Amino acid sequence: MSFKIKNNVYWVGKIDWEIRKFHGNEYSTHRGTTYNSYLIKEQRVALIDTVWKPFSKEFVKNLAKEIDLDKIDYIITNHAEIDHSGALPELMERIPDKPIYCTANGVKSIKGHYHKDWNFQVVKTGDTLDLGNDKQLIFVEMRMLHWPDSMACYLTKDNILFSNDAFGQHYATEFMYNDLVDQNELFVECMKYYANILTPFSVLVDKKIKEVLDLQIPIDIIGTSHGVIWRDNPTQIVEKYLAWANAYQENQITILYDTMWDGTKRMAETISKGILEIDKKVNLKLFNIAKTDKNDIITEIFKSRIILVGSPTIGGGILSSVAEIFEMIKGLRFRNKKAAAFGCYGWSGESIQVLNELLKKSGFSVINEGIRALWNPDDESIEKCLEFGREIAKTTN
Ligand code: FEO
Repeated sequence: MSFKIKNNVYWVGKIDWEIRKFHGNEYSTHRGTTYNSYLIKEQRVALIDTVWKPFSKEFVKNLAKEIDLDKIDYIITNHAEIDHSGALPELMERIPDKPIYCTANGVKSIKGHYHKDWNFQVVKTGDTLDLGNDKQLIFVEMRMLHWPDSMACYLTKDNILFSNDAFGQHYATEFMYNDLVDQNELFVECMKYYANILTPFSVLVDKKIKEVLDLQIPIDIIGTSHGVIWRDNPTQIVEKYLAWANAYQENQITILYDTMWDGTKRMAETISKGILEIDKKVNLKLFNIAKTDKNDIITEIFKSRIILVGSPTIGGGILSSVAEIFEMIKGLRFRNKKAAAFGCYGWSGESIQVLNELLKKSGFSVINEGIRALWNPDDESIEKCLEFGREIAKTTN
């Protein structure tokens, strides 16, 4: 499958309807994904990115139907992660001497993955590549958006920004354009992608977007490397990124917990009642961490102004599902969010101290010392949980 995007620019990627876990098991892809590769057929021919390794044979076979591979002049590798560079070995078997344009970090990464000394051409921000017909590719380094090697490139005259991972989403669709797909599905996947992948780099996202906007170059199309191509009001996703990059939050409180014999679950439900007694407008959500997709939890935290985290005490610590989600949370460096801890205990009762430490290390402002209940909460503990919830509801930003 391939299709024309504009003039001499074609999509030559792969739609992966089947994938449900990405980055090993780190990212759930409920709606599949796409690996977008682009072919520009001007006087000189450029290929931008490839596809994930399992599809490399299929990719090269399809590409050869689109163009005589020997006619490809330039290969652009915007980002060396395997989902985009994975077909390079198969392709370079066929055209081993063709130049690969990437950043200096891109060379390190591609060599690190494939152990090949291909014809690398290092580019920096502002470097250009002449495609003939008065069209050029202009390169823009996107360091840490989201890897040290990431870059984007811009096709003049056609006004297409090939942004690689930025502005993408894991979303398989045969429609392929932002205006043709279900908008709710699209933006759910966009936000999940930002929350789980780009949150730690928000300061850089804000800076880089403003730097590109200051250039005042016309952008008619944003061709990302995953999901839809933005052709209808493409800057709408840029504006979303600016909002998300600036300590984004909605009026949401999220209660996350795991439970052994339902005591901590009862605490969670009682605290939620207390919150709603005071604030009926807040979007209050409860999730059992062990039963919920971890990337969906991260998206809910991303939207929250307050999170409450509960675990009973076990072995002087917390339940493993709660510890696991903190391994993700702490790396994401959320900003401007408040938090508090709760949990049942039978003997020593350290869970809330452990949770408080984890919350502080993860950059949350901890509202209070938390609340714990002995064994399964009795009437007095239930009343305390209600009051705890009422106090949380009164917490302002
Ligand atoms: Fe889609 Fe960072 O790879």
